[in-house]
Amino acid sequence: MKLKNNTVFDCCMIDVSKIHNEAGNITVVENGDNIPFEVKRIYYLYDIPGGEARGGHAHYELEQYIIAASGSFDVILDDGQNRKIVTLNRPNLALHIVPGLWRELDNFSSGSISLVLASNEYDENDYIREYTKFLDYKI
Ligand code: TYD
Repeated sequence: MKLKNNTVFDCCMIDVSKIHNEAGNITVVENGDNIPFEVKRIYYLYDIPGGEARGGHAHYELEQYIIAASGSFDVILDDGQNRKIVTLNRPNLALHIVPGLWRELDNFSSGSISLVLASNEYDENDYIREYTKFLDYKI
């Protein structure tokens, strides 16, 4: 399978907006409205022990929105040439990650929740889990 030639600069923060009232906020993400792919799967990371990191892989095809539903954490994006660190700490901001990039998540605050909206069902064949293999594809 061919790895897409995207760069870290193709990933951007999207304000998915919030509806505010005195009883609190609600944020809505809806297919065909404020997300550039169709959501097929949702998962979330939570109870992450202090000092732990997640991710550490690339995807051939998968696109994702990552949202700090609670607390904060960093997403490190790497396209083989450039690295970008994005801090997520607001539930109304989504980081759009395009396919073909290495990513790691770290610096999780206590009680944080990383909400992930994904463009496909889980498929281990869509993963590259070795950084050296990822770099080989990028050359
Ligand atoms: P993994 O991809 O290693 O997590 P992360 O990249 O966040 O560190 O996934 C951890 C485990 O969960 C692994 O056994 C695969 C499984 N998993 C699923 O079964 N379905 C899924 O949608 C995801 C994201 C993971």
